[in-house]
Amino acid sequence: MTSSNCETVIRSSFESFGDLELKRKAYLVPQKGTQEPLALNAPQLIVGRGNDVDYRVVDLQASRHHVKLLAVYNRYYVQDLGSANGTFLNGYRVENERLAHGDLLLIGSSMFRFEMGEDLDADYLKKLNLDTVTALAEAVDKKDPYTASHSKAVSKVAARLAGAMQLPPAVIERVQLAGRLHDIGKIGVPDAVLRKNGRLDDDEFALIRRHPIDGEAILAPLAFLSDLLPAVRQHHERFDGTGYPDGLKGHETSLDARIVQVADTYHAMTSRRPYRDVQSLDFVQDQFTKSAGTQLDPEIVTVFLTLLPSLYSQPS
Ligand SMILES: [Fe+2]
Repeated sequence: MTSSNCETVIRSSFESFGDLELKRKAYLVPQKGTQEPLALNAPQLIVGRGNDVDYRVVDLQASRHHVKLLAVYNRYYVQDLGSANGTFLNGYRVENERLAHGDLLLIGSSMFRFEMGEDLDADYLKKLNLDTVTALAEAVDKKDPYTASHSKAVSKVAARLAGAMQLPPAVIERVQLAGRLHDIGKIGVPDAVLRKNGRLDDDEFALIRRHPIDGEAILAPLAFLSDLLPAVRQHHERFDGTGYPDGLKGHETSLDARIVQVADTYHAMTSRRPYRDVQSLDFVQDQFTKSAGTQLDPEIVTVFLTLLPSLYSQPS
């Protein structure tokens, strides 16, 4: 599969999420008094009290409902719930109407202006990002039955390692996502090569070695994942400078990539393969000790070795 074909695959997986218009926050801004604008998280109900309105979101079973606000992405609707004194939009009594930025909404005796905020809904964006990341990573994991949960396991180990290194929560979260996406470029490697049990020939190995660069190219257009690009491109560099694609040495490789390398190596070493048994804890400890300073960052390996017994006793 070529790089542009890869992008087509990724884009079609994005399309399965439907409308990707970023959700903006919406508010009802009271036109009198000192009340704070009411941020709308639809669907919600606004309860009328006599001739007034209480700005609380209430239980769907509560009595004296006046209006209901509904949202589908950035489209908001108002629905009058059979109130005694009616709901008016820009002076006209309405039952069901779509709201537009700037509309004046009279609920009981309270007048509001409906406003679409400039701020994006952070929780919604975060969920969208995570859903997207998960779908991309699943697509890669599915290509190789023997590494079916590889990216999930690497993500988990990388996050635990970053935690043990006492890195800030934002870095732990970033490393966790990088672990999930580090092999995304493998979506462009033919299944016959990825699943081959025997020795790879030079051409096949060259295809495998492209995946960090292809991964970076696939994710580069997605601005919200830009922080992950160094880890994706650099996860096959080696501490002694003999890795690929750029032959970076020591701390020339990003911290995120050096953490993902350790987690990736651990899972590759401990996952069950058709051609070998699971490695013993002693063997794994020994291999990590040997690779400190050659393949892997020795300081990170030191922390990792303290985690290793508990990781090994809870295989993913
Ligand atoms: Fe990789």
